[in-house]
Amino acid sequence: MSLVRVQVPATSANLGPGFDCLGIAWELFTTVELVPLAGGLFIEVSGEGAAEIPRDERNLVYQAARAVFRQVDQAPGGLRIRITSGIPVARGLGASAAAVVGGIVAANVLVGRRLSVRQQLALACQMEGHPDNVAAALLGGLVVAALADGEVKYVRFTPPPGLKAVVAVPELRLATRTAREVLPKQVNFQDAVFNVGRAALLVAALLQGELGVLGTAMEDRLHQCFRFNLMPGVKKVVAAARLAGARGVALSGAGPAVVAIADANFELIARVMRDTFRQSGIPTRVLILNPCPVGARALERK
Ligand code: HSE
Repeated sequence: MSLVRVQVPATSANLGPGFDCLGIAWELFTTVELVPLAGGLFIEVSGEGAAEIPRDERNLVYQAARAVFRQVDQAPGGLRIRITSGIPVARGLGASAAAVVGGIVAANVLVGRRLSVRQQLALACQMEGHPDNVAAALLGGLVVAALADGEVKYVRFTPPPGLKAVVAVPELRLATRTAREVLPKQVNFQDAVFNVGRAALLVAALLQGELGVLGTAMEDRLHQCFRFNLMPGVKKVVAAARLAGARGVALSGAGPAVVAIADANFELIARVMRDTFRQSGIPTRVLILNPCPVGARALERK
């Protein structure tokens, strides 16, 4: 019997202004195991959100693996899937992207690595709808990615040393679909200019290690202001984390988790973020995470 085990990192998309194009991977993992069988589908899930993750054909890891098998026209008769989920679900830390990428990478190993990294990324992006989380989950580090003519164009780089994330994960859930439904169909020209400048500044600052500009560079006018209305207390947490010494603060992806980028004062920032959520009556845990320089990878094959 052959078993493939793949570890996939959590990700924060957007980092404020980089809507749908910027993502960073963190050292917090979901593990996906696939075992080909003669027949049947058996899915076991443990860890974060285990009770809500479907154990049938709706399962994202299964759907991603099936997409690979279809693309290469090579499929096992059946499949056993074991998911150990370390990424909080529906909080903005890329749990669904990790499931998709884990399923794709593991299935690709099972079929003899017939898909290139670009093909895996294209498939993941098709399933997820936008490239930011899946690109960072697949490639690790920081990834700038954009869709062009049906292809994902990307540049990956390593975050500056010493940078960590303090991520406040409230006991609130927000499906990405809901968080996208509140966004406007059109944006004001000045707001677009505001975001273009900040997104460019953010990438340049992260490339050069100039963390002093992150306070400005992580501001956003395209999506966060609409989403704050869905999430009680979140806007105050962003402001409080800045005052506590974070270099820049934003929603992690579509939220409701808040990501504070810092190079010092991690414990203080964590306490302030937790206390500020609690003042709004929302229990919250806080994770202090290192950037993950590597993306999804197969750990072993027996
Ligand atoms: N860029 C996406 C969004 C990330 O903000 O909707 C969440 O999946």
